[in-house]
Amino acid sequence: MAREFSTVGVVGLGTMGAGIVEVFARNGIDVVAVEISAPALERGRATLKGSTDRAVAKGKLAEADRDALHERVHFAVGLDALHSVDLVIEAVPEHLDLKQRIFAELDRVCRPETILATNTSSLSVTEISVATSRPNQVIGIHFFNPAPVMKLVEVVRTVVTAPEVVADVEALCARLGKVDVTINDRAGFIANALLFGYLNHAVGMFESHYATREDIDAAMKLGCGLPMGPLALMDLIGLDTAYEILDTMYRRGGRDRRHAPVPLLKQMVTAGLLGRKSGRGFYTYERPGSPVVVPDEATPLATDGALADGARAIAKVGVVGSGTMATGIIEVFAKAGYEVVSVTRGMEKSAKVCEAVKTSLNKGVVRGKLSEADRDAALGRISWSATLDHLADVDLVVEAVVEELSVKKALFASLDEICKPGVVLATTTSSLPVIDVAMATHRPADVVGLHFFNPAPVMPLVEVVRTIRTSPEATATARAVCAALGKTGVVCGDRSGFIVNALLFPYLNDAVKMLEASYSTADDIDHAMKLGCGYPMGPFELLDVVGLDVSLAIQRELYLELREPGFAPAPLLEHLVTAGYLGRKTRRGFRDHSHR
Ligand SMILES: NC(=O)c1ccc[n+]([C@@H]2O[C@H](COP(=O)([O-])OP(=O)(O)OC[C@H]3O[C@@H](n4cnc5c(N)ncnc54)[C@H](O)[C@@H]3O)[C@@H](O)[C@H]2O)c1
Repeated sequence: MAREFSTVGVVGLGTMGAGIVEVFARNGIDVVAVEISAPALERGRATLKGSTDRAVAKGKLAEADRDALHERVHFAVGLDALHSVDLVIEAVPEHLDLKQRIFAELDRVCRPETILATNTSSLSVTEISVATSRPNQVIGIHFFNPAPVMKLVEVVRTVVTAPEVVADVEALCARLGKVDVTINDRAGFIANALLFGYLNHAVGMFESHYATREDIDAAMKLGCGLPMGPLALMDLIGLDTAYEILDTMYRRGGRDRRHAPVPLLKQMVTAGLLGRKSGRGFYTYERPGSPVVVPDEATPLATDGALADGARAIAKVGVVGSGTMATGIIEVFAKAGYEVVSVTRGMEKSAKVCEAVKTSLNKGVVRGKLSEADRDAALGRISWSATLDHLADVDLVVEAVVEELSVKKALFASLDEICKPGVVLATTTSSLPVIDVAMATHRPADVVGLHFFNPAPVMPLVEVVRTIRTSPEATATARAVCAALGKTGVVCGDRSGFIVNALLFPYLNDAVKMLEASYSTADDIDHAMKLGCGYPMGPFELLDVVGLDVSLAIQRELYLELREPGFAPAPLLEHLVTAGYLGRKTRRGFRDHSHR
């Protein structure tokens, strides 16, 4: 028989605590909600009211249910109010000494059978538990932000947590409509251990002016389908909390430099820029606690489609190559109204590319996304050639040939001879330094990277890579072209992985290392990232789709360029690739796909 929880206590009604109160009260459980002072209590009450009022306004909660929910919550200052609850969840700031003091006090105040739980993200539940005389009844119940929305709960058992306490808490999570993963006490558990290295890396990119906050966030949302960009997520988490989590993970998690908080974070916390809760963090919000971003001095000016910053007019575009990317890019430009010259290495290849473009456009017609007339017009804009000489009068060249530096350099040297002055020369490379191809020409100022994502007609993102020689006009031209294609162009520096791959692949590699260390299973890790962070796919699902060989190659590039020890490819990833388990394409990767 699972234990009955009729009344629970929540300590600390900040970002997490207020949401946790709501989760319990929504599910018919009485809550004693406790804060340190009357003003803090009022803030907590206001947060709960704001959240439930929004739920009513959105039609997700009936008014009567909201009122009943509020009646279930009893607010109080000080821990004494918790004397007769069945379970306490602590959600005070992420400091070990504070949490230990609170647990010692809870141990005195609460009944002997009460379960004491912490919502800590990174501190040792074991160290917190030994501040009490009942460490076997202490457990981690780690909710995700926002608690009423995110489905995941990480249940953290220490070596002394009693098995029946774990079972009771698991049953409680099910009653709350949550999905739990039960794990051992390790810094960052599953989700934060995989998330925070990525978040910190993104802050580092911002700090070093590698890309703007808007571009970093847009890249991860549009390139990976994440619900929020990393900097917006930092603002939601709270920069003070994020700083403490990183600091603890750095110290507890083997002093991985990737967890050493980027100095800017500390400066922002000291300056009171804590994110949404203080009204300002990486972005500025309407008021403290509001999710609405308002423009500030760093907000880019809207150009309303006008050619900004000296962008050059582009009418005719050359696309070189005959693979998947070239085919998709030809289609994208032709559909957007550009005149396109496709150049391949022979008319046979041109015929194949032409067929592929036709097939893809026809699919658009069948799906009702394109009229027959528009299809015919798009095809009519494309001319097919097997010689680069036909690029003499284009305004922009997009190169999408094989990913080999010598081939690309030779091609750019030829383009330099053939193309008229002022043309923007773009490479779609995903891993080679753009400056290498730029220096194969006498006009490196006109060379940029245009990193399209596969499939190009579908994916809304393009990374615009500027080298240290790229002119502002060439960058502005590339960005304006992306906008004209209906895509978001994000501008970044010329470093391995640009924005998306540099942030994505180390996270995937970390997931492999976590699996390799037997901390959790592939299923639980995938669940944790999907249900705790709202990712569209878990890391192992994604690795199997992308291909383990491709992922390993990208991770190796990152490691070689940045020499970051934490980027070293996971041995398990190398072994799977060696064994020929490359993912869906070989019907086996991290999972067996032979029966699907
Ligand atoms: N922010 C997140 O996204 C997130 C997600 C999951 C878990 N957590 C964890 O939840 C915990 C709380 O984080 P947060 O972001 O909600 O912090 P927060 O700063 O938003 O809120 C903390 C609250 O605790 C109150 N408090 C401080 N001392 C207290 C005391 N002695 N007694 C009662 N209340 C006290 C504060 O007044 C404040 O309202 C941390 O352990 C954090 O790691 C945070």
